[in-house]
Amino acid sequence: MSNVMEVIKKRSSTRGYTSEPLTEEELNALIHAGLQAPTAANRQEIHFTVLNGDNPILAELEEEKNRLREITAPLHNFYYEAPTVIILSADSEFRWSALDAGIAVENMALAAEELGLGNLIIGCIYDAMRGEKKAYFSQALKFPEKYEYEIAIAFGHKAVLKEPHTYDADAQVTFL
Ligand SMILES: Cc1cc2nc3c(=O)[nH]c(=O)nc-3n(C[C@H](O)[C@H](O)[C@H](O)COP(=O)(O)O)c2cc1C
Repeated sequence: MSNVMEVIKKRSSTRGYTSEPLTEEELNALIHAGLQAPTAANRQEIHFTVLNGDNPILAELEEEKNRLREITAPLHNFYYEAPTVIILSADSEFRWSALDAGIAVENMALAAEELGLGNLIIGCIYDAMRGEKKAYFSQALKFPEKYEYEIAIAFGHKAVLKEPHTYDADAQVTFL
């Protein structure tokens, strides 16, 4: 197992995957990384909908996203043809749902990096998920009652490599 600091430093977004599927062990490890994330008041309100990349509902989401964004010829679908996509939903009435989903999705992203897998956190389907087809998509993805989309994440084997992003600590950090 790697040092968590090394994994944090190494992780980056993957926008290109091979067709190799995840093993059951890999998928289980990723799901449990999400489930092990802390949640406010230990509410554990995050729901995880696991889909294979060829699930037709993903194509419908892609179509709706493109319709709303007036994209006619996308170069990739929103999950870059990854073999696995997990959609996180949460209780729409709980104040900390979005933050808890963010923590859970980063746990999963770091777990993927640890396993040598690529991953991409996905926010671009927000309007499609929460727009006029919200009820349809929520039901198709089997969200629990009163749950709504928070974030998604794609997983697979890396077909492309990307360096982690750089940052300006001086601009973003204040020491008092
Ligand atoms: C909340 C959130 C939503 C994101 N949504 C998308 C997305 O829809 N599509 C995409 O390609 N990348 C998405 N990203 C990935 C960011 O673009 C990426 O993390 C950022 O550019 C930094 O690059 P790195 O992850 O390689 O370090 C998202 C990241 C976060 C945290």
